[in-house]
Amino acid sequence: MSDHPPAAPAPADALFFRQVMGRFATGVAVVSLAREDGTIGAMTINSLVSVSLDPMLVSWSLQNTSSHCADFLAASRFAISILADDQEALARRYAARGDSAQVVEDFALSPAGLPVIANALGSVECERWAVHPAGDHTLILGQVTALAMGKAERPLTFFSGRFGSLPPIG
Ligand SMILES: Cc1cc2nc3c(=O)[nH]c(=O)nc-3n(C[C@H](O)[C@H](O)[C@H](O)COP(=O)(O)O)c2cc1C
Repeated sequence: MSDHPPAAPAPADALFFRQVMGRFATGVAVVSLAREDGTIGAMTINSLVSVSLDPMLVSWSLQNTSSHCADFLAASRFAISILADDQEALARRYAARGDSAQVVEDFALSPAGLPVIANALGSVECERWAVHPAGDHTLILGQVTALAMGKAERPLTFFSGRFGSLPPIG
């Protein structure tokens, strides 16, 4: 049970909340899993947070109305791929509802058998650590089981509702 049941905000407050929080610039990632029938589940997220070093934990939040809820709430393992600045089309593809826009060639299989986005900036594989109700989302914590760094160097960013990139460093 949540300590803080969600109170319904006035619509204008919810919009303002989104606008203010949209000023917190983030990277963009795709969280993915392998279903038992061999198909892939994948969705674009920007709620990724590095939570703990010992043990290594990350978290992300899943909208309770998502068509991916059943898959991700049942999954004991999932992967998170951090997108590079040339992967905006991919970010948009996995923000589409369900598997409607999925392209199998977007994925590579990790040595542990999880689908990760090919040519991502980096990827993190996780075992489910904890799942917490969090208002209209569910907070999913994963313990890191594998890490990989890609060849790409610059991130896809998300700020004020828009995709972008960073200028070259140095
Ligand atoms: C930049 C960006 C970030 C997103 N971050 C999240 C997120 O952290 N959690 C989430 O549940 N949905 C997030 N979404 C929405 C999902 O990608 C998208 O709504 C969903 O995959 C498609 O609907 P479905 O999940 O009902 O199939 C994000 C979308 C975009 C474009």
